[in-house]
Amino acid sequence: MQASREIEVLIRAKYPILYVTSWEERRVEEEIAEIAKKIDRKLHSWSLTSGMVPPIGVGSEKKSSLPPELQALALVHEAQEFTLILLKDFHPYLKDPRAIRLLRDLAGRLRERAQTLILLSPTLTLPIELEKDVSVIEFPLPEREDIAATLDEIIEQVKGNPKLDVSLDEAAREQIVRSAQGLTSDEIENSFARSLVEVNRLTVDRIIEEKKQIVRKTGILEFYPSSSNLKDVGGHELLKDWLVQRSKSFTDAAHEFGIPYPKGILIIGVQGCGKSLVAKAVSTAYGLPMLKLDVGRIFGSLVGQSEENMRRAIRISESLAPCVLWIDELEKGFAGAGGSVSDSGTTARVFSTFLTWMQEKTKPVFLVATGNNVSALPPELLRKGRFDEIFFVDLPDLEERKEIFKIHLAKRNRDPKKFKVADLAANTPGFSGAEIEQVIVGALNKAFFAGHELNSKDLLEEAKTQVPLSRMMSEEIGWLRDWAKLRARPSAKHEGD
Ligand SMILES: Nc1ncnc2c1ncn2[C@@H]1O[C@H](COP(=O)(O)OP(=O)(O)OP(=O)(O)O)[C@@H](O)[C@H]1O
Ligand SMILES: [Mg+2]
Repeated sequence: MQASREIEVLIRAKYPILYVTSWEERRVEEEIAEIAKKIDRKLHSWSLTSGMVPPIGVGSEKKSSLPPELQALALVHEAQEFTLILLKDFHPYLKDPRAIRLLRDLAGRLRERAQTLILLSPTLTLPIELEKDVSVIEFPLPEREDIAATLDEIIEQVKGNPKLDVSLDEAAREQIVRSAQGLTSDEIENSFARSLVEVNRLTVDRIIEEKKQIVRKTGILEFYPSSSNLKDVGGHELLKDWLVQRSKSFTDAAHEFGIPYPKGILIIGVQGCGKSLVAKAVSTAYGLPMLKLDVGRIFGSLVGQSEENMRRAIRISESLAPCVLWIDELEKGFAGAGGSVSDSGTTARVFSTFLTWMQEKTKPVFLVATGNNVSALPPELLRKGRFDEIFFVDLPDLEERKEIFKIHLAKRNRDPKKFKVADLAANTPGFSGAEIEQVIVGALNKAFFAGHELNSKDLLEEAKTQVPLSRMMSEEIGWLRDWAKLRARPSAKHEGD
């Protein structure tokens, strides 16, 4: 396995401090014990609750007035040559300047004495002072072969039980193994066991449930159940056609045909014109689950945490592939990634992790990014090869406004044929889709209060009372249009107001 091999090489090459990130303490500890045995190193393992096992020195631990985590570091001085010291969950103490200093002091000495300190934590929180002394290794989650082996083990264990049906055909087996990717070995075992207890056989449902849990716990990603469909989107014909054309590209058949998985699209444009609406409709149209990524929440306070968050979000979304990953208001997260030094380059690094992923992504994760302030977006993002296409969404023209009126009237159980939709559209130039919806909601309220059924007059009157945002923001919109002319594809062939 790649990560174990890397750890072994680094230990042999006398790297002083390794930082291994993994949620699977038990699994990593076993691997490290294996390595220690293989290359003949003594292994000590420390945690806050068990202290150093086996102990180093004789009882020196108890005498000191230092807090236990610093005692552990002090003890390293007394360890023999050719030793590995594994510190479990040490990351909270890396905020303490004393711990940082002790580690830096140790680094040189460790190398001379062929000792290696291994920090093992689920998250990477590396203070900047230690960046040069520490090598970071990401211990990957179980791969397909590991999962298949776990599955076989479980089947072997329970196959004598007449109440359980563990027969799986090749396709069902493949589906289970594939869907369990992205889980830790404990989670995989738990979800298999739970499936057997609950339904007496092995199904993917339990695994999906387990994944929903994980997504929920990240706080960065959320499962976004969408009820919108492309039919709920008025106008944007070119964009909708493009999306429909790609809807089959996620199938195995398409892949075998030689079609690469679509990477995703960036939708830029005027506020309230349906960017988020389209994103939500994609997931329904493609019949894929949708994850929403909150870029703002990626940014943690410690060096490394933000990048780890980004990597985690990527890993989880890949493990759920095929899926749609929606990043709303992209510019809010990555504003200033181009050059700002105000956050010592964290934004830039997170952004570059993201760009690399977009460029090299092979898993079918369809990215839908939406945003409206393009001036804040770093130009690298817009380069070819990142998104399949960049679409510009403008204010709806006359025809599109008609469609939007019809969609929202129908949504509120009104027959559009009973309304003067053409008049309404003609009287709402510059209105966005969101504003048209507002006109209908406002008019409904007034009609209900007055005690009569909604009619075209109510709607026309309501429209007159509203000033569309585009009137106040004509300069910005003009700028956005100029920008888009050169860089983006229009979402619709506009015929004019
Ligand atoms: N083209 C459209 N067709 C139908 N409804 C629309 C359209 N555009 C906007 N709407 C309505 O307005 C609501 C808000 O639009 P949406 O959130 O998609 O706008 P947005 O472009 O993402 O705006 P923002 O830039 O403010 O995020 C939608 O939920 C939908 O009800
Ligand atoms: Mg939006």
